[in-house]
Amino acid sequence: MSAAPGSADALSGQGFVAGATQVARDAGACLRRFYAEGVETEYKGDVDLVTAADRAAEKLIRARLAEVFPSHGIYGEEGTRDRMTGEYRWYVDPLDGTTNFAHGHPQFCVSLGLEHRPAGTPENADGTVVAAVIYDPLRDELFTAERGVGARFNGRPMHVSKTRDMAESLIATGFPSRKRHDNPNAHFYHEFTLRSHGVRRAGSAALDLAYVACGRLDAFWEFNLNPWDTSAGMLLVEEAGGRVTNFSGGKFLLDSREVLASNGLVHEEFVSLFADMFAGRNLEPIPTPREYAEKRKSRE
Ligand code: IPD
Ligand code: CA
Ligand code: CA
Repeated sequence: MSAAPGSADALSGQGFVAGATQVARDAGACLRRFYAEGVETEYKGDVDLVTAADRAAEKLIRARLAEVFPSHGIYGEEGTRDRMTGEYRWYVDPLDGTTNFAHGHPQFCVSLGLEHRPAGTPENADGTVVAAVIYDPLRDELFTAERGVGARFNGRPMHVSKTRDMAESLIATGFPSRKRHDNPNAHFYHEFTLRSHGVRRAGSAALDLAYVACGRLDAFWEFNLNPWDTSAGMLLVEEAGGRVTNFSGGKFLLDSREVLASNGLVHEEFVSLFADMFAGRNLEPIPTPREYAEKRKSRE
């Protein structure tokens, strides 16, 4: 018996990704217009920026998702909380990379991740992320995935890299714009920089995850991200053959506040360095600014 039109079954397969792709492309076009014209910036916190583009893109996504998937819930960074008891929930980051966007720096995207929450899922428990769409409107690059079906980059199958060692990896991370003094990530940035081909800090966590999925990066980690930053990207990485965990190698949860994503091959090496660092072991020293200044002086 075929599923009723509009039912969850009828919408599975390519339905979720196809519907959300159109929404993400339209939101991307909206961001491109604001980007071309320039936008005024407001502050949500001391350095946490928001622009009219974030709000306009979320408004558009909220309306369009409700048309395409009327029963689905929507949880958006800019405040949307619609149908939160539904069986499906979209995590929406209408503009991931706002700081870049506000400075005219061309690295940002739209991120849509769909979580399946069968009846009875406790409010504080994760469901299963089943579909993902990340769209970079400036490069017109589309990253999609559906659980169990695979991941695609502009419509073609997408796979993680084959790099085997941290020493040969290109990695990415990010830093928060809130509570920056509580975040230890500069220490991790230092260690990973000394042990790899380098650490990029491009300013869009969703694109960083998409880049792990398509092999442009070998791994990515960050502290304190939110489900709208990670839900889509984590599925892209898993469906492209990679691995996503917390820093101890345990199950990644949408609110776990730690994400480590990699091609899978280098994952254990990363987990082991996290363990060493949290225990204060194996840290590679570099000169302090004062030590460096003394050497500098002696060269004058
Ligand atoms: C930010 C970006 C950035 C990450 C920050 C996020 P936003 O999201 O993903 O790369 O380092 O932690 O908050 O605020 O631009 O949507
Ligand atoms: Ca974000
Ligand atoms: Ca955002």
